[in-house]
Amino acid sequence: MKFPSVSFWVYLLVLLLGVFKRRDSIEMDINGIIGETKRSVNFPTKSAIYVWGYNQSGQTGREGKDGHLRIPKQLPPELFGCPAGANARWLDIACGREHTAAVASDGSLFTWGANEFGQLGDGTEEGRKYPKKVKQLETEFVKSVSCGAHCTAAIAEPRQNDGTILSRLWVWGQNQGSNYPRLFCGAFSPNTIIRQVSCGAVHVVALSEDGLLQAWGYNEYGQLGRGFTCEGLQGARVINAYAKFLDETPELVKITQVSCGEYHTAAISEKGEV
Ligand SMILES: *[C@@H]1O[C@H](CO)[C@@H](O)[C@H](O)[C@H]1NC(C)=O
Repeated sequence: MKFPSVSFWVYLLVLLLGVFKRRDSIEMDINGIIGETKRSVNFPTKSAIYVWGYNQSGQTGREGKDGHLRIPKQLPPELFGCPAGANARWLDIACGREHTAAVASDGSLFTWGANEFGQLGDGTEEGRKYPKKVKQLETEFVKSVSCGAHCTAAIAEPRQNDGTILSRLWVWGQNQGSNYPRLFCGAFSPNTIIRQVSCGAVHVVALSEDGLLQAWGYNEYGQLGRGFTCEGLQGARVINAYAKFLDETPELVKITQVSCGEYHTAAISEKGEV
């Protein structure tokens, strides 16, 4: 019997080494992947707010001499009454002309910046250069916030809740009739679930879970969607009356999202056709 040649043994050795190395690298890959997953699972428990830009009224929440911040800066957690290293996550943030509002993951709402129309919701008209919890909403779990030029609107649910009261709308600041957050129904019935709210410069649009829009405020450019323009502050109305200005009845659509510019409004419907 002929012994396998030396080159055969060398070949076998290389082959076995190859297999071991492959197994190593597979294990490493798995560890690597698990490591990644762990990190990405842990990561979202903490988040931070960054601000930059114009700071005339302290809306950046940061100290400085320039009157503006050229580079995005993180707001330290201590500014929100969270000790350093404490878990603080942020759910939503909104900027008005010169004020800022942010929703923390525990459902509390913070505001800071200009307040000449009561847009900070603390009952005063004095601006503030540091964030403070909106006391009036402490019994509520705030889910989202929108800022107009000088007003603010938030969607919240009562913390003490037997499940019967769902997302409601709170408004305050310019043209909203209060320096404190107040519950607002407008043209919707009191138990309408509010899905989204968006503030323009001087108008506000709220979207119900059923896909209906209501709008109030100023309408000098037709931003309330009523089929005409008009001067002065307008009460809330559901956006559907414009139909009478058309030759053909429009398709009924369910709205799923809305956004206001300063003086215009845009919305997304669930389907293009019914
Ligand atoms: C922002 O404005 C506030 C209030 O005027 C001021 O105290 C603060 O130092 C300013 N910060 C910057 C970065 O200019």
